[in-house]
Amino acid sequence: MVQAKKWILAHHFDGQPKDSDLQLVEETLPDLKDGDVLIEAVFLSVDPYMRPYSARSLKEGDTMIGSQVAQVKESRNANFPKDSYVVANVGWRSHTVTSDESLLRPVPPFGKLPLSYALGILGMPGMTAYFGLLEICHPKEGEVVLVNGAGGAVGSLVGQIAKLKGCKVIAFAGTEEKCRWLREDLKLDVVYNYKKVADQEKAIREAAPDGVDCFFDNVGGEAFTAGIHNMKTFGRVSLCGAISTYNAKGEELRGPYANGIIISRQLKLEGFIVLRWLPKWGDAIKETIGWIQQGKVQTKETVTEGFENMRAAFYGLFTGDNIGKAVVKA
Ligand SMILES: NC(=O)c1ccc[n+]([C@@H]2O[C@H](COP(=O)([O-])OP(=O)(O)OC[C@H]3O[C@@H](n4cnc5c(N)ncnc54)[C@H](OP(=O)(O)O)[C@@H]3O)[C@@H](O)[C@H]2O)c1
Repeated sequence: MVQAKKWILAHHFDGQPKDSDLQLVEETLPDLKDGDVLIEAVFLSVDPYMRPYSARSLKEGDTMIGSQVAQVKESRNANFPKDSYVVANVGWRSHTVTSDESLLRPVPPFGKLPLSYALGILGMPGMTAYFGLLEICHPKEGEVVLVNGAGGAVGSLVGQIAKLKGCKVIAFAGTEEKCRWLREDLKLDVVYNYKKVADQEKAIREAAPDGVDCFFDNVGGEAFTAGIHNMKTFGRVSLCGAISTYNAKGEELRGPYANGIIISRQLKLEGFIVLRWLPKWGDAIKETIGWIQQGKVQTKETVTEGFENMRAAFYGLFTGDNIGKAVVKA
């Protein structure tokens, strides 16, 4: 009998998440039947989407949603042999028994690269950057790409792919450390700390007086409006996320409204969920591995130690604690 730990949504979040919203509970797992595997979390992902998703789709008492890299500890399923590693979409759980193969994806072979990359640059956030930029914005050499949330898991890869495509990149992030990384190591062209910029719209205009061709929006709210006001006619906008609004309550979500500019500049805006391209992830992961191995892209991780600290790692997403991908080492 294995004792598992799991984090449940004790109360729906109201504004900024707080400790009493999430509770650590124990559970005794059943013995394995034919088709079952027992997996143990090695790395767990905390992601911004968990905040709006919980409001939409979880009931109080449900296990928090999420992915993990896990090792198969026991197996009665030939597709998932003992000791192999999987990306498991089983939520914030230390151990899990399941026969549901739709929740399990073998970790693709990435040679000597860390397993945790399966939750970051070689997993969901990396694929979000890859497809959200390339399939929606179609950036071309010489164009201007704007990305916010640029020091995080998705944004940092967006900026680098845009550079690989020969674009000029304007980036916003919220700490000096992130800005230094983007400027000095990733060689993005113009980098702003949005917390120190009084007027984001004006800052973008100064960096791109002729306007922005492609805008990858991770932040939403006022940052979205600032970007929209700087778009060129026929510009393309990839609506990836809106983290600045995830903890907002009703009244805080009102305007300003950018409809006039969107219409008059004939912009193309498209929201997306990265799972749309799941059948193409394999090839994109291979290409990204190549970029890493050739030194063309790099990544950072902020690793929180201990399953019991999942909550703190998650809250840190909303206070900018992570540089690159936030993961928890179980
Ligand atoms: N559409 C999809 O399929 C999809 C998939 C994955 C992610 N996403 C979205 O992509 C965005 C980035 O996700 P990620 O996993 O890469 O997260 P991340 O950027 O690694 O972490 C979140 C970062 O957001 C920034 N942030 C927090 N509150 C903010 C605010 N009020 N204003 C501006 N920035 C704020 C913080 O950095 P600073 O220090 O810069 O403030 C924080 O470190 C999120 O909006 C997420 O929901 C969408």
